[in-house]
Amino acid sequence: MLKNTEKNMDTIVNLCKHRGFIFPGSEIYGGLANTWDYGPLGARLKNNVKDTWRKRFIQERPNSYEVDADILMNPRVWEASGHVASFSDPLLDCKECKMRHRADNLIDDFDPDAHADGMTKEEMFEYIKAHSIPCPNCGKHNFTDIREFNLMFQTFRGVTNDSKSIIYLRPENAQGEYVNFLNVQRTMRAKLPFSIGQIGKAFRNEITPGNFTFRTIEFEQMEFQTFCKEGDDSDLYDYFKEYGMKYYTDLGIDPSHLRYHDHEKLAHYAKAACDIEFLFPFGWGEINGTHNRTNFDLTRHQEYSGTKQEYLDPDTNEKFIPYIIESTYGLDRTVLALICDAYDEEKISDSDETRVVLHLSPAIAPYKAAVLPLSKKLSENAVKLHEQLSKAFMTDYDAAGSIGKRYRRQDEIGTPFCITYDFDSLEDGCVTVRDRDTMDQERVNTENLINYIESKIKF
Ligand code: GAP
Repeated sequence: MLKNTEKNMDTIVNLCKHRGFIFPGSEIYGGLANTWDYGPLGARLKNNVKDTWRKRFIQERPNSYEVDADILMNPRVWEASGHVASFSDPLLDCKECKMRHRADNLIDDFDPDAHADGMTKEEMFEYIKAHSIPCPNCGKHNFTDIREFNLMFQTFRGVTNDSKSIIYLRPENAQGEYVNFLNVQRTMRAKLPFSIGQIGKAFRNEITPGNFTFRTIEFEQMEFQTFCKEGDDSDLYDYFKEYGMKYYTDLGIDPSHLRYHDHEKLAHYAKAACDIEFLFPFGWGEINGTHNRTNFDLTRHQEYSGTKQEYLDPDTNEKFIPYIIESTYGLDRTVLALICDAYDEEKISDSDETRVVLHLSPAIAPYKAAVLPLSKKLSENAVKLHEQLSKAFMTDYDAAGSIGKRYRRQDEIGTPFCITYDFDSLEDGCVTVRDRDTMDQERVNTENLINYIESKIKF
């Protein structure tokens, strides 16, 4: 079994491209940096992950409600949230080659123990100067001053050409959940603690290289906000840290490839913050965050909108602005972590052959099964079987090449079950089901096949 750090990112990117998971964005035009398009299998995998998240966070949790808020919001939202004033990266340009860099990344790459995230802009500039950190592109040391660069994409809306006003593409889902706090509370007659979840796109003008889909300018988040009474916040915070870890291990990620990273430096309004990091081939990277945001967000929305954001406790008649525990999951990073963790190159016993296999959890695999007729003469019956199975779950059909080649193709895309229809099937109504991970084979009656597979793809 390959260790994650022995896996090669380029090989994984290639597999994703050539097997229909993820393509470079706008490829025929030479691409667009940090953008990627999900192909047929990638889109399926991503949707399957969304389904598991919805099940775990909305369906199975009491008092949890999903919303689908607009990407475009009143610009005052982003003033209230603090994004207009301070959602920025410290950037400097190399005066020699004109390449733009994040100052904190230059420092952290130079010395990971330097902790640039605890430095001011001025301290970063001094550090880069004192250590003569070179430009990673041209090797020279000749930088501009550091400037704060806001990460929000802005555009203009106007009813007439001269009445333009700035609007932003949302940089996070959370605010769509916060501004609907009272709408959801009233319409659902929700009592604290209750939660609002949302899956949706977010946009950030990231300038640093992305490590494939790890850092992109357009990405999806699965965000979950739990509104609670002050005093209940710390227990809920601990609870959601663990809930997130369990979600990832239930998705099949090896627990030794996951770790918590508690933040020492907190945003001024936050009481606690912790990431879950995954061991990617390029190192540890954040895939999730749990944040105790206190009552900062609703207090700010009350102040900026002039609309009261108070909850009336029906038991005590007390009115107060709730605390929020946020649990946020990067969908693209989760998908990338799942692909990296599942990828393996395995030597097949008693042969010189090596197989590439994605050990994806059956619950999220793009195809649950593939029907493989042993001979073209069996196509008619095999096609019928494929049609039957497709009514229950995503099923592939492959009649091209030797059975060994067809197994390898399905292994590479993570299909958990290959179903061979052979000449005996005509007589006994049974097919051979081959398990992707163990490569063991079992005869199963076609009448029981859907139940057999469904019992193994549950989440
Ligand atoms: N509402 C809180 C929030 O947005 P965040 O840590 O900035 O917190 C949450 O983002 C998650 O979104 C991260 O844990 C990460 O998984 C994902 N994410 C953030 N920036 C990203 C980017 N540029 N590309 C892909 N995923 C990103």
